[in-house]
Amino acid sequence: MPPRNREGQRKRSLAVFPGSFDPITNGHLDIIGRGLSVFDQVTIAILVNPEKHPLFTVEERLDIIRETYRREHRVRVDTFSGLLVDYAERVGASVIVRGLRAISDFEFEFQMALMNRRLNPRIETVFMMPAESYSYLSSRLVKEVFQLGGKVRDLVPAVVERRLRVKYGSAPPSSLTHRRRARGRRT
Ligand code: PNS
Repeated sequence: MPPRNREGQRKRSLAVFPGSFDPITNGHLDIIGRGLSVFDQVTIAILVNPEKHPLFTVEERLDIIRETYRREHRVRVDTFSGLLVDYAERVGASVIVRGLRAISDFEFEFQMALMNRRLNPRIETVFMMPAESYSYLSSRLVKEVFQLGGKVRDLVPAVVERRLRVKYGSAPPSSLTHRRRARGRRT
């Protein structure tokens, strides 16, 4: 029997999807979509880590994710600091969702899941695999590729691409070159 509240209604299942999201990618979106097919609600929880030097501030990442999911009421976005399991317990989530792209993710994820279980056995970690086309995708690579003038269009939501343009100045190096060439052709 699924868990029920005092009124006898089925309790809504809530999963937390934690991470840095600097920035959120289509790989993350893929996992969130899969999460929504299993859980009633997914809360994207951005880790506030003063020791890291992210490209996007926490406020920018909140904004980006809010815009991405403005039409999906089952997805919420929040920030947390301290232990993830404490955050999950506080918001009433019994599940942590993590994406597993490749075997190389496994060791760290396995360690984290077991440590989290030791810290709080009531919170279960569920791993989900993204579509194969995202198996190589990471926030770090998106930033690097964009900075070096590569296209990231199908790898991130449109709002992220726009924000990357603003962050790195209106045009990445390759599109500058492209525009100069186009201008040259016209004259
Ligand atoms: O996007 P990331 O960087 O892979 O996310 C890592 C994250 C935020 C899930 C992880 O660093 C985390 O849960 N940090 C919170 C601190 C914590 O609970 N540490 C103990 C878990 S082993």
